[in-house]
Amino acid sequence: MDLFEYQAKELFAEYGVPVPQGKVASTAAEARAIAEEFAAAGKSRVVVKAQVKTGGRGKAGGVKVADDAEDAQAKAEQILGMDIKGHTVHRVLIEEASEIEEEYYFSFLLDRANRTFLSICSAEGGVEIEEVAETNPDAVAQISIDALQGAPADVAAKIVESGKLPAAAAEGAAEVVTKLWDAFVGKDATLAEVNPLILTKDGRVVALDGKVTLDENAGFRQDLDSLAASEEGDPLEVAAKAKGLNYVKLEGQVGIIGNGAGLVMSTLDVVAYAGEKHGGVAPANFLDIGGGASAEVMANGLEIILGDADVKSVFVNVFGGITACDAVANGIVQALEMLEERGDDVSKPLVVRLDGNNAELGREILSKRAHPAVRQVDTMDGAAAQAAELAAK
Ligand SMILES: Nc1ncnc2c1ncn2[C@@H]1O[C@H](COP(=O)(O)OP(=O)(O)O)[C@@H](O)[C@H]1O
Ligand SMILES: [Mg+2]
Repeated sequence: MDLFEYQAKELFAEYGVPVPQGKVASTAAEARAIAEEFAAAGKSRVVVKAQVKTGGRGKAGGVKVADDAEDAQAKAEQILGMDIKGHTVHRVLIEEASEIEEEYYFSFLLDRANRTFLSICSAEGGVEIEEVAETNPDAVAQISIDALQGAPADVAAKIVESGKLPAAAAEGAAEVVTKLWDAFVGKDATLAEVNPLILTKDGRVVALDGKVTLDENAGFRQDLDSLAASEEGDPLEVAAKAKGLNYVKLEGQVGIIGNGAGLVMSTLDVVAYAGEKHGGVAPANFLDIGGGASAEVMANGLEIILGDADVKSVFVNVFGGITACDAVANGIVQALEMLEERGDDVSKPLVVRLDGNNAELGREILSKRAHPAVRQVDTMDGAAAQAAELAAK
């Protein structure tokens, strides 16, 4: 999972890596208010920085210096809504402007090929490191890190020396390296890149940019949800992502839940086809509950699909495999109960088609429960036709 620059800097600060002071704004007026706060503290020059998960923002015009609060508002107006390499800018970071003496490059990353970690350090920062590595490979030091030893002071000093950082920055940079390693390990990162790492005119070493990738496999011991929660985009997509579900919002009226990408894709096709008869009824979204459709996964899935105001009917299309249809049916029953208990509206019609492993048993469970919202259809085409018809009503 990639972090925004402002999140990366919050993480750096947590581990004592010096970063400029800054705050995030989502409107130009907010940007102005933040800049006014900085001005009141004697820092009227600020930098307005697009928060998108891609590099090269500076080149694309997404990083601009503002002389005062009014200028910050104007720059924020220019940057908000901008498209940078396919990413729309929804927020900007307003940051105190640093007095830059020099720009360097530093990163830690997981080196899969060599089954270890790597540090990359260069006195030539602020530009793309791949470019430097190509045109001037001697300027880029690559030093592997012993995972158990990490980057204590002596190792950090060697890295900084190999990167040919000047004496004035050596001590400060080495401190950053050690602290950044602690952050890298502490947060289970696979990448922590600082480009540029700067030496300020008054001799401090500061992380001016931050690019961090966290290992999603470490989600069990890291709070990735709160970081993902500030993700931009459709709120239901964000909620689904936080629950580990693959949900995609579309334009139509039929909510779709299926197990397995292939089945879900063909379900979209049959619903769109069936919908032609009803004036172009189409899928409103889709959600792949994957292999293990437990009651909880089903409840989370239904909650998200039913939470979409565009959904008029839901098509649950499951082919029982390792997770048999009876388990899925129990999941649906429990999910409806869970949602009803919580006071959620579960009156939208649910067309369920169960096939494959233990299909008979699954159908029996649903028939016995006889939930008013649920109707069963044995074939995929038949179920799609009914879901489309119900959505058209
Ligand atoms: N707080 C700041 N103060 C002064 N200059 C900055 C500041 N933040 C960024 N810059 C300048 O803008 C350049 C690009 O910013 P950066 O955060 O590295 O974005 P990107 O790498 O996406 O282009 C930096 O190399 C630096 O020269
Ligand atoms: Mg940068």
